[in-house]
Amino acid sequence: MSIELFDVEKAFGKTQVLNRLTLTIHEGQTVSIIGGSGSGKSTALKHMVGLLRPDDGEVYVDEQNVSRLDQESLYQLRRNVGYVFQFAALFDSMTIAENVGMGLKRMPDMSGDAIDQRVSECLQMVDLEGTAEKLPSELSGGQRKRAGFARAIATRPKYMLYDEPTTGLDPVTTAVIDELIVRMSDELGVTGVVITHDMKSAFRISDRIAMLYHGGIRFEGTPDELRMCEDPVVKGFIEGRPKLMRLAP
Ligand SMILES: Nc1ncnc2c1ncn2[C@@H]1O[C@H](COP(=O)(O)OP(=O)(O)O)[C@@H](O)[C@H]1O
Ligand SMILES: [Mg+2]
Repeated sequence: MSIELFDVEKAFGKTQVLNRLTLTIHEGQTVSIIGGSGSGKSTALKHMVGLLRPDDGEVYVDEQNVSRLDQESLYQLRRNVGYVFQFAALFDSMTIAENVGMGLKRMPDMSGDAIDQRVSECLQMVDLEGTAEKLPSELSGGQRKRAGFARAIATRPKYMLYDEPTTGLDPVTTAVIDELIVRMSDELGVTGVVITHDMKSAFRISDRIAMLYHGGIRFEGTPDELRMCEDPVVKGFIEGRPKLMRLAP
């Protein structure tokens, strides 16, 4: 079981965003995707859950070709793939509990009581027990991110995709989210893909790290391999030295 991208190409208008992107995410691993703004990270993630279809190339999740699935199979797939959006993307007019329980309502085997139970478990997991009846506007940015997280884990997915789960958060809240990502992996065996700008987080939570550059993979390996990487583009990026990146061929 894995997520696999083979030679994925994607353009928006004249902009080629993904350029023969090939990447495998193995079951049970937590993989961080790093890279500059606009390098195609969010676009790559959206292909893994069928929110976007490749112009060319293939995307497989659990050996299923995502771009060939019909609506019903795609819906089944999405129950197995939790997605934490870059911006919390909560519904403003719904309470936190309603937001978190959204995906559960569509599961035929879940009774109302079972949904309430699951929602409060998930809120507890992210330390938001007291907020069930609040509206998103009553929460802080960090709390909204955690509510988005609770919603993504509510259906107990096998895969979790996180798009910048810690961007804009203070270091303490960042550490809390990092810890949740690690717990999802260690306690629930969830396979995770995390887009992050925070190199400290990436080194802390990842089994492997992949760097996107101009829509392709510039580096893929363990955190230790990344630390030792001599490629000026990679080294320049992780050390925040743009001049070094410009020396690259
Ligand atoms: N739906 C879209 N329509 C047009 N252009 C898009 C769309 N989504 C992304 N892009 C463009 O694709 C490029 C990569 O975007 P994205 O994958 O969001 O980058 P990243 O997440 O690495 O910052 C950017 O130039 C962005 O403007
Ligand atoms: Mg993005």
